[in-house]
Amino acid sequence: MTEEMIAAAAGHFETLLREQLRRQARMAQGAESKDYAKADHIVIGIADGDGIGPIIMREARRAAEKLLRGEIASGRVELREIRGLTLEDRLACAQAVPADALEAVKGCDVLLKGPTTTPKGGTLESANVTLRRELDLYANVRPVCVPEEGIDWIFFRENTEGEYALGSRGIEIPGELTMDFKVTTDAGTRRIARMAFEYARANGKNRVAIVTKANIMKKTDGMFSRIAHEVASDYPDIEAEDWYIDIMTANLVNPAVRNRFQVFLLPNLYGDIITDEAAQIQGGVGTAGSANLGSRYAMFEAVHGSAPRKIESGEGDYANPASILKALELLLRHIAMPEKADRLAEALHLCTETERRVVVTGHRDGASCREFGDYLLEKL
Ligand code: IPM
Ligand code: MG
Repeated sequence: MTEEMIAAAAGHFETLLREQLRRQARMAQGAESKDYAKADHIVIGIADGDGIGPIIMREARRAAEKLLRGEIASGRVELREIRGLTLEDRLACAQAVPADALEAVKGCDVLLKGPTTTPKGGTLESANVTLRRELDLYANVRPVCVPEEGIDWIFFRENTEGEYALGSRGIEIPGELTMDFKVTTDAGTRRIARMAFEYARANGKNRVAIVTKANIMKKTDGMFSRIAHEVASDYPDIEAEDWYIDIMTANLVNPAVRNRFQVFLLPNLYGDIITDEAAQIQGGVGTAGSANLGSRYAMFEAVHGSAPRKIESGEGDYANPASILKALELLLRHIAMPEKADRLAEALHLCTETERRVVVTGHRDGASCREFGDYLLEKL
């Protein structure tokens, strides 16, 4: 019995290895991107998601409609509803992203997506992970700012590889052993490193922290660090620093050192974890936005999940839409509309920091998501 399982697992591993080599070869060829500044038609897909998704997305949609009123009227921008991405839809067809929903998303340029619930265990993959892979959204970019502390961080998290590439396709010898895989490719690392250093150069940053655990994950993180340094050599004015993820998580809660960091470049899972920590330092995961960028497509979402507990406790209507609104800001920047992004950012800052006439706490004691949305619209 075990011998058969070993043979099956070895066969499975060969399949995975060949698939990943094909993916690396495809990536190495590069892909075309769209020049939004010159585009005469931009399709923004809108997907509500699960749990608090529809509640926060309603406010994001209203803000988008207001900010883009002229462009929508002229036909330059189209907001397109994407259906079929709720947990029920996904469970019904046992697909992480139902085929027709994926086709609909591919008909858009960019997607604003509410949180989608990922069932724990089982075989249904996270819709996020599937979309990131299918749309090849290789960069997860998450800014975090705390101006009064001088914190101005931006995280470039690799978004398609590491533990996520094959996270639902590990090996199991029941009752004895389980094994997952972590994948790092040359092309996959090069392109995220390039994006981080390009960002640093374009934004006057002089340091990039390359964060890995290359002392332990010698092959995968070792390669990530080595390629990041190779890319760094094209940017002699920018200092590339090596850090291990464990001490970096400590650094972020150390007020004496944390504001010296600027740009972070990390493999997928470390980026996942540390960006929640960073968002919490900014005021909570409800306050941070997340951009998933590829060459052809891009997807923008909140850093937090669908908050099923909030729905169960009947507090869904009090969810904080700030994170998805930050995601909308990132989307507007991505489609080359920086003035609109600034307008939204300024209004958000006014509503959440300076004026704070309507305050969302996430609970009944605060304003509702809708009330905050009304307040924001007034200021836009
Ligand atoms: C995130 C989330 C996702 C991730 C989940 C929902 C799959 O935590 O975007 O950070 O792990 O990447
Ligand atoms: Mg996360």
